[in-house]
Amino acid sequence: MIPFNIPPFVGTELDYIKDAVNGHKICGDGKYTKLCCEWMEKRFGAKKVLLTTSCTHATEMAAMLAQIQPGDEVIMPSYTFVSTADAFVLRGATAVFVDIRPDTMNIDESLIESAITKKTKAIVPVHYAGVSCEMDTIMDIARRHNLLVIEDAAQGVMSKYKGVPLGTIGDYGCYSFHETKNYSMGEGGALVIKNEDMIEPAEIIREKGTNRSKFFRGQIDKYTWVDAGSSYLPSELNAAYLYAQLERADEIYSDRMQAWNTYYDRLIELENSGYIRLPYVPDECIHNAHMFYIKTKDLDERTRLIDYLKSKDILSVFHYVPLHSAPAGRKYGRFYGEDVHTTRESERLLRLPLYYGINYSDINTICDEIYSFFEGGR
Ligand SMILES: Cc1ncc(COP(=O)(O)O)c(C=O)c1O
Repeated sequence: MIPFNIPPFVGTELDYIKDAVNGHKICGDGKYTKLCCEWMEKRFGAKKVLLTTSCTHATEMAAMLAQIQPGDEVIMPSYTFVSTADAFVLRGATAVFVDIRPDTMNIDESLIESAITKKTKAIVPVHYAGVSCEMDTIMDIARRHNLLVIEDAAQGVMSKYKGVPLGTIGDYGCYSFHETKNYSMGEGGALVIKNEDMIEPAEIIREKGTNRSKFFRGQIDKYTWVDAGSSYLPSELNAAYLYAQLERADEIYSDRMQAWNTYYDRLIELENSGYIRLPYVPDECIHNAHMFYIKTKDLDERTRLIDYLKSKDILSVFHYVPLHSAPAGRKYGRFYGEDVHTTRESERLLRLPLYYGINYSDINTICDEIYSFFEGGR
């Protein structure tokens, strides 16, 4: 069986975990958390990065820092993971879903402005497959309407828009280091903060509402409970695993990119013959090869292709049933305007196996089988 995903492992993870254990520091905010945050701050030119227990939690922190209140509205695509909406719904906001662009599967920036009401507080662009949303347009709308921008860059670590790393463009950026992501710590994430004034409130929320971070830096004599907060800091064991991968980030990046390009080159002929659509990457975007997907004609063809590949021991998956069609989406959100592309495009999309170290002969087998499916099936 060719698996859909194998969590990344570069080989030094266990040494670093052992080092954390031997150093008798396995709770949060030790040596490896610091190394991870500093690595990201330097590499992405970010004002501040805080390692978190997940991207979901980074987004929850952003929602708290944005002071989202019951009755507020937050604009986002419906074609996304539940956490994009959940983080704001937990604070009592309504998710206002806007249609996506069929080419990138990202929020259609041209529809955002008309979805804004007096209640709108934030825009949440989701960089699907590590390909950036049209950020200049989104930032311009946000500035003119005094809205915050919280980037869901769960899939966008190491991607860029006009040369700027994703996650650092908006007011907040949220990364995921889940085992399905390019760089992983099992479960984990990070919050990128742009505004210096929000660093201290963020540290307080992350540390159970206390100013313990300041205490550890020796800036105060004792720490105390200063605001509402929770516990969003991951264990050093997870951070040690991640740091091993960040150190080898370029190697992971090029390995995935080569796999992505191999898929693209092998399948372009099928796109040219009109059988499938391949991912589109706008000129101003540098993606990170987070995923390789194809789009079939429709849902029925996708279902038949998944079954066919499964019969050949190849696991392919789809995801994101649009949130506005889910029970909680109907309860906590509303779709603005018409769903022209969201449902239709989501039903066509199929993700192919892609992970660090994927075998090239496996990619060729997968592509051969996709050709067989279309040649035999039409
Ligand atoms: C777009 C998007 N947002 C948020 C998340 C949540 O990430 P995490 O599992 O780290 O909470 C994911 C995870 O798959 C995602 O793809």
